[in-house]
Amino acid sequence: MLEKINQTVKNFESDISNGVNKDKLEEIRVKYLGRKGLFTRLFEEFKVLPKDEKPKVGKHLNEQRTKCQNKFDELISEYDQVSDSDDFIDLTLPGRKKELGTKHILTQTLEEIKNVFKGLGFSVYEGPELESDYNNFEMLNFPADHPARDMQDTFFINNEFVLRTHTSPVQVRLMQNKKPPLRAIMPGKVYRNEAISAKSYCLFHQVEGLFVDTDVTFAELKGTLVYFAKQFYGNDVKYRFRPSFFPFTEPSAEVDIWWQPKGKEGKWLEILGCGMVDPNVLENVGIDSEKYTGYAFGMGVERIAMLKYGINDIRLFFDNDKRFLEQF
Ligand code: PHE
Repeated sequence: MLEKINQTVKNFESDISNGVNKDKLEEIRVKYLGRKGLFTRLFEEFKVLPKDEKPKVGKHLNEQRTKCQNKFDELISEYDQVSDSDDFIDLTLPGRKKELGTKHILTQTLEEIKNVFKGLGFSVYEGPELESDYNNFEMLNFPADHPARDMQDTFFINNEFVLRTHTSPVQVRLMQNKKPPLRAIMPGKVYRNEAISAKSYCLFHQVEGLFVDTDVTFAELKGTLVYFAKQFYGNDVKYRFRPSFFPFTEPSAEVDIWWQPKGKEGKWLEILGCGMVDPNVLENVGIDSEKYTGYAFGMGVERIAMLKYGINDIRLFFDNDKRFLEQF
């Protein structure tokens, strides 16, 4: 009898170690541990044993059955854990959407601006965001104590360096490194130490433009910027050139675009500054101002995007709120 019990346990053990699946496990349970299984039969045989054999065989049989039952339970719980997800596929669940990222609206706007000017033969040139005070102001005709420096709230790094307050110092770098004729746009980040509000942020983007050659005129500047405005905002865009002042251009102007929100009062919004490169600036970089003239302009990318898409708070560009970003 003891021999028979041990043989049953051995068979059980070999059955469960032979690559089981859920159905196989159930088969094994019925075969060994079920109500009509091998262990039940062994118990029946046990009942009719002579009295003196009963205690020893009974103890062994009980122990071995418990052992098999425990092994089985362990296996089935392990199996349940791993296989739950495989077994339970709910075909009625909606699929998971793969979300594709998109370009930030500022990147898109910048690309659009670049494309308009590339079409006019402008190349793209870039300069550093950490700029010398000298290039940011001095070379652009802002002397050390010139009140025009007050127009721009500067982040000074030390006596010598600033976070550039505009992209105009890139003009200086370009004119120092290349000989005219020059025709380039210079996009990039600029920084101003201003109180943050719906209208201003400590960081924004500008695109500078420069054209230097013999006989460059203000009429060409105007033609170029009007072309840009029409390409960007559509042919019926309403614009105006308004006289202005910048230390590095003479004469200078600002361009406004008419902004007409639905159902509200419209108004003029400034999108860029421009002018003829001041002869002093040309001389500073060693270009003969008797022979060459040039025009320059600088536009705020956020401003331009706000106008085009009706965005009313500049901070939205930097919040990285998906609800905003996904609209573009
Ligand atoms: N740099 C000027 C600004 O930041 C814009 C500008 C650029 C004006 C070029 C004239 C010519 O306000």
